[in-house]
Amino acid sequence: MPDASPRTRSFGRNFARMGPRMDARGAAEHRRRLVEAAHGSVVEIGAGYGATFPFYPAAVTGVLALEPDPTLRDLALAAAARAPVPITVQDGVAESLPAADASIDVVVCSLVLCSVAEQPAALAEAVRALRPGGLLLFYEHVRSEHRVLGAAEDLLTPLWSRLAGGCHPNRDTAAAIAGADLTVLSLERFGFSALPGNPRVAHILGVAAKARA
Ligand SMILES: C[S@@+](CC[C@H](N)C(=O)[O-])C[C@H]1O[C@@H](n2cnc3c(N)ncnc32)[C@H](O)[C@@H]1O
Repeated sequence: MPDASPRTRSFGRNFARMGPRMDARGAAEHRRRLVEAAHGSVVEIGAGYGATFPFYPAAVTGVLALEPDPTLRDLALAAAARAPVPITVQDGVAESLPAADASIDVVVCSLVLCSVAEQPAALAEAVRALRPGGLLLFYEHVRSEHRVLGAAEDLLTPLWSRLAGGCHPNRDTAAAIAGADLTVLSLERFGFSALPGNPRVAHILGVAAKARA
């Protein structure tokens, strides 16, 4: 499993400071809607400081929350203790889920498919671990569909990725989900300015399902 480098560790500390401000500006409401359909056994990849934990509905029997960054993982452990459903937090990456084939009801991705090192591998792992009919719930920022803004994100990505824990502002995550043996059941696209002064960046929020056997 890749160890967190000093650069990604410093991103973790920064994200722990900035994240609650994003939540107050609307990300918390996006997270609440993200997990509305969650139920049964859930794996949340890259859970950060556990900002989504308060919103898991009672239909969830348990969450395995994976977080590779030690600072964020410690915060997630504290958040898990206050969560409305049982949540286990552990080290781990999306590209290698500690779950048997076809064993999970729901995989949750929140602002993480931009950052995983290998997005196709992460999606393939989610599909492997989901039971037939299982759901992938996603809330992600994505490459703009506007030609000029998308090109600007392409230019920005190499530098931003180094500064922001491997985040890629130019990933077409909706296309990747649709191409990953998943059927997209709902997909909302909207602009969201995460922090004061930041541009409105394209986000997607939706549900995809693994085919029933
Ligand atoms: C922008 S933060 C989002 C955190 C959280 N999901 C949220 O919505 O607040 C990106 C997260 O992805 C995690 N991450 C980076 N690479 C990862 C990987 N390969 N597998 C799982 N998580 C990863 C980071 O440690 C960080 O917690």
